[in-house]
Amino acid sequence: MALTVRHHAGEYQVAWGQWADVASSLPEKAILITDSNVERLLPENLQALPRLTFPAGEASKIWVMAGQLHEQLAQLGALRSHTLVAVGGGVTGDLAGFVAASYMRGIPLVQVPTSLLAMVDSSVGGKVGVDLAAGKNLAGAFWPPQSVIVPFDALTTLPERELRAGMAEVIKAAWIASPELIETLRTPVLNAQDPRLPEIIQSSIAIKAQVVEADEFERLGIRATLNFGHTIGHALEAVTNYAEYVHGEAVSIGMVAEAQLSARLGLITPNAVDDLRTMCHAHGLPTALPAGLSLEDLLPFMRKDKKAEGTHLALALLHGYGACKLHTDVAADDVRKALQP
Ligand code: GLY
Repeated sequence: MALTVRHHAGEYQVAWGQWADVASSLPEKAILITDSNVERLLPENLQALPRLTFPAGEASKIWVMAGQLHEQLAQLGALRSHTLVAVGGGVTGDLAGFVAASYMRGIPLVQVPTSLLAMVDSSVGGKVGVDLAAGKNLAGAFWPPQSVIVPFDALTTLPERELRAGMAEVIKAAWIASPELIETLRTPVLNAQDPRLPEIIQSSIAIKAQVVEADEFERLGIRATLNFGHTIGHALEAVTNYAEYVHGEAVSIGMVAEAQLSARLGLITPNAVDDLRTMCHAHGLPTALPAGLSLEDLLPFMRKDKKAEGTHLALALLHGYGACKLHTDVAADDVRKALQP
């Protein structure tokens, strides 16, 4: 089974299956890029392929590491006829994708996402990149993959906290685009064995694909709706030095806060905010800003957000159950009042 994603230069398939089947779906002359954690979990037939491994963690998603991978590819004799295969979570997809976009001015890329976050979000849509000292993902490219292969059974080895964090992006997909998925998630997904999970992942990928097809280069304010919960979420991650929360946890707090703002602006009812909060909480996710942290601490980072324009804040706000729009003119004072305890 597969889903087709169209982009400016063609299309690619997102296919799903099992770890053991990934190797047989890869093109000839594949070179794997993976991290030190996922390397230990590779099935034998993937272990047999040429491979570059980097140290696991967001700290590796930097220009210098991309340069080292370029040099290693050159030493291996990689050419444009080779395909890079990113096997791992969001960091691997972004970093290996960036290397694929730039090595020899671009070589083919296959994404094999092994975390829930990478399956439902970062592996689809063509964004690749590395972090700079000034902020995350500040150097990058749009480099659509040749294909995405989703091995569902890789989730069985994913740490529980990462599964919960990935569910935050699933909840986000539901609230921005799918009343049906919201209904499904009213019964929480709490482990990788949940039999509903493959179908829920497919629905989330379909939402992501639909949004990026409508606004591939994030110019129309449509792709920006994928950032629901992320303006406050990113600010929270930055202000806590990326040490307190994993991404999905910060997004969960951000979604609830941005829903409160949506309610303050009359776009949704207070009941909808309660529904979203209950859903995040039921998935084991945090929903409140930590004590002692105020909006004033977050505002500088929200303004620095890539979507900010002038003195007003840009935020993707809910317009109901499964509807979201980008607002580019939100007054900081409204955010302040919405977040008052
Ligand atoms: N993760 C947001 C996007 O792909 O646009």
